[in-house]
Amino acid sequence: MGAYKRIGILTSGGDCAGLNAVIRAVVHRASTYNWDVWGIQQATKGLMARPPQVVPLEPTEVDTLLTMGGTILGTTNKGNPFAYPMSDGSLSDRSNEIIEGYHLLGLDAMIGIGGDGSLAILRRLAQQGGINLVGIPKTIDNDIGITERAIGFDTAVNIATEALDRLHFTAASHSRVMILEVMGRDAGHIAISAGIAGGADVILIPEIPYTVESICQKLRSRQERGQNFCLIVVAEAVRTESGEPVTHQDADGTRRFEGIGHYLAERISACSGAETRVTVLGHVQRGGIPSPLDRLTAAAFGVAAVDLIAEEKYDHMVTWQNRQVVSVPIAEAIAQYSTVDPNGTLVKTARGLDICLGS
Ligand code: F6P
Repeated sequence: MGAYKRIGILTSGGDCAGLNAVIRAVVHRASTYNWDVWGIQQATKGLMARPPQVVPLEPTEVDTLLTMGGTILGTTNKGNPFAYPMSDGSLSDRSNEIIEGYHLLGLDAMIGIGGDGSLAILRRLAQQGGINLVGIPKTIDNDIGITERAIGFDTAVNIATEALDRLHFTAASHSRVMILEVMGRDAGHIAISAGIAGGADVILIPEIPYTVESICQKLRSRQERGQNFCLIVVAEAVRTESGEPVTHQDADGTRRFEGIGHYLAERISACSGAETRVTVLGHVQRGGIPSPLDRLTAAAFGVAAVDLIAEEKYDHMVTWQNRQVVSVPIAEAIAQYSTVDPNGTLVKTARGLDICLGS
């Protein structure tokens, strides 16, 4: 048994199902080493606060976390500490406050659960301030290329697939074209996976250009076979036919992908005469009970992350590769952004099933 350690854990970036299950696994594994785990609240903001905002996490208190959505620690996908928005509108580098917060707490190591953006920021802080960092990948977008699994993706695909299952029958009853807009940021992983699993007739992803005419042709060929309805799944980052991103501006000025479903609905109605309806699935994909696979991944990643700390193998991220959990340098992990491979298995599968990919 190695020396006693006090570990900090934080969640950073957009939430997703399975974050709490990771926290639970980390606390349980750390307790087998007789180490303490402190939960850092609101991502790095908890380390910026004075006193730093942390909660002790006891193994006897974390069992309900297995199935709980969201993150009990809170999170944020705003406020880069190297260019932190201040109340007077200026941007300030507050990285040293975060680093000081880590050292004030007497932490021996920190586990950061995040996507590529969060892990890049955490790594920069770690390098600058001697933080012993271990990363755990989470993202419903599944765009961290080096790992085959990231926490939250499977649940998001399950939710999007269930949405297609439900839309199928109402589409058939009314002979309508149902368009389901799903998240995924610049990658079409959720769309292609849920589209195949949910029996979509058309799947549009940012990685493959499309024409509205090809979708209308698909509608016509279905009609010729007596199928008067159609299920379309579209990834949020799919652009207009002329290549413009479709976004929505929030009150604070932030632009998010949203609206491609409605754009397509208008054009498909115009070219085919079909009655269209749009469902924007949105943050439903991030909430709720994690799927069994996400819980399993959370357990394996949580245990492996604590074991990396026991080995003092810092600056590494746990990773799922070839049916194993291994570790890779965080720098290597975040360098490989993954989009859907237009020549990959899922695209071939979709084409093999005569699913229209818009081209
Ligand atoms: O990265 C996860 C994600 O859910 C994306 O799929 C989506 O584009 C974005 O976050 C939404 O962000 P927000 O939570 O700020 O609305």
